[in-house]
Amino acid sequence: MAGLIPEQIISDIQNAADMVEVVGETVLLKKAGRNFVGLCPFHSEKTPSFSVSPDKQIFYCFGCGVGGNVFRFLMKQDGLSFPEAARTLGRRYNIEIPEKSGFSGTQTGISEREQMIRANQIALDFFRYRLSQLPDGERARTYLKKRGIFKKIIDRFGLGYAPQDWEALHRYLSKKGIASKIAVQSGLIIPRKNSSGCYDRFRDRIVFPIFHLNGQIVGFGGRVLDDALPKYINSPDSILFNKSQSLYGLQQSKEACRKSDSVIIVEGNVDVLALHQHGIKNVVATLGTALTADHIRRLKGFAAQFFLVYDSDDSGIKASERIVGLFIKENVDAHVAILPTGHDPDSYLTQFGSDDFSKVISKSLKIMPFLLTCAIKKYGMSTEGKIRILKDMKLALSSISDQVSRSLYVKEVSEKIGVDESALLEKVRHTTVRRSHEKSTRRLPDPLRPSDASDVNRSANRIEQQVIAIMLQCPDLIPEIMAQKVIERFGDENLKSIGWVVGSFLNDGPQRIQNIISTLNHSEKERIIARLVMTEEKWNNDTALKLIAHFKNIKRRESNDRQNRQIQAAEARGDQETVNELLRQKQIQARNPG
Ligand code: CTP
Ligand code: MN
Repeated sequence: MAGLIPEQIISDIQNAADMVEVVGETVLLKKAGRNFVGLCPFHSEKTPSFSVSPDKQIFYCFGCGVGGNVFRFLMKQDGLSFPEAARTLGRRYNIEIPEKSGFSGTQTGISEREQMIRANQIALDFFRYRLSQLPDGERARTYLKKRGIFKKIIDRFGLGYAPQDWEALHRYLSKKGIASKIAVQSGLIIPRKNSSGCYDRFRDRIVFPIFHLNGQIVGFGGRVLDDALPKYINSPDSILFNKSQSLYGLQQSKEACRKSDSVIIVEGNVDVLALHQHGIKNVVATLGTALTADHIRRLKGFAAQFFLVYDSDDSGIKASERIVGLFIKENVDAHVAILPTGHDPDSYLTQFGSDDFSKVISKSLKIMPFLLTCAIKKYGMSTEGKIRILKDMKLALSSISDQVSRSLYVKEVSEKIGVDESALLEKVRHTTVRRSHEKSTRRLPDPLRPSDASDVNRSANRIEQQVIAIMLQCPDLIPEIMAQKVIERFGDENLKSIGWVVGSFLNDGPQRIQNIISTLNHSEKERIIARLVMTEEKWNNDTALKLIAHFKNIKRRESNDRQNRQIQAAEARGDQETVNELLRQKQIQARNPG
């Protein structure tokens, strides 16, 4: 695949790209020695095991085993192909990639995904123009004005208007050279059921573009201008757009989230606009779906503290309770703010202003107190009620992994309900023990953990990996390793082929690791290289030569054992000819070890 883009350009991109910068856009990185560490965006974790090396331009997660170079990172994070990742980086670092490289005929070399992004961008231009310029945008302009949304916010969020017309966008897209197939795929138009042709999905609606973190438009939400139903429609999920990962407003809010190290999560697109308009810019909304672990993981790249401010109605509070369970599971430092009944952040801000809103935030409850308040409200404080409250709380309390905070919360809950603290603690402990037991017996295979990490293989090929680590660290030793025929004795085929490639790069230099990776051109092998580079096992001539001698000893013993077994088997068969031949081989080897 890499062949489609000239090697020279790939290498230019590689040279220009800064891994720390690229990763740092979505992962909160902190300096730790020569590397940077952060929470892995590819699996759930509470302590950082995801590392980036600025010197080697490699990332590796010691938790889930994902690793590689900057291309691999983007491929994993955004689900891109190699050429797409290269193009994304090329754009970012102003390195032009010839569009037709490698393709012939009508193919443009641009992937479907990229064509969909282009269609969305053109659609956005269309929607924005309709809102700002044309007479039929007047109703939309009036509507937004009535909702108190200023031009500044309209521009910042790229709001637009989809006119009351069945095919206006479709016509415009065709004029701009977007194939109907692509427009259908990105959800902008819908094929007619009973006749040919397509019609626009968004009609007579305010449209809210939804941006990916790299600034590309992945979808739209569209709101009616009155009380018609459905109030919102969204672009359908596609290879580009995934509602359980995307967050409305993150692109516009990420700076402020980083700065304040906190993020406010609301339900509605309009709430996001309202908060920004009132100067509170660290806010995102889910797109009419439940908050997911993926959302949380993504947000963790920007903030450590989460504030949930859902609508203060039954469904909003129910949703908050559910989400709090997820916060506990994902180990986030989270608070829940409760607005006066009937309000959402937008209506509250409009009525009371940002100072009062900040007060609501500062009075927000941490997870346990919030759950307790909910439970008390639900069950009341009769004896019967208290029993049910305790039952609910016991589960929540037992899922707190930090023992100190668990016991503090147990104290708090028992005081509030008026039950004996030690009795509650005992119950919680019981649940915790049972849970950790369940976890350890139910060890499911982790799909992210690559197969070579199985314990048996790991010890068997550990030395082979160390040999590769030595060649990576001390290229000076490669001639010696080659002379001693170490690689050809490798038992693991993957490691053997890695060994040959690494052994062919004799000159140390800043691009060496990257050249090795692109020569291997294999995700699994790339991951192994990343791990070996990032594992801080230091080798010098002395320790390295000792290891090699040790390796050869093991191999010699192995082959000796094998030969002895063969000889025994041949003797048992009475096959004297084979016995003699094997003995002859043994003698030759004994005379020329190595
Ligand atoms: N939503 C949706 N489909 C619906 C209703 C809502 O996808 N039929 C999503 C939208 O992203 C919306 C969010 O859920 O922004 C929250 O809904 P709601 O609170 O009703 O929307 P607001 O954006 O607050 O709109 P408004 O204040 O104009 O009522
Ligand atoms: Mn609202």
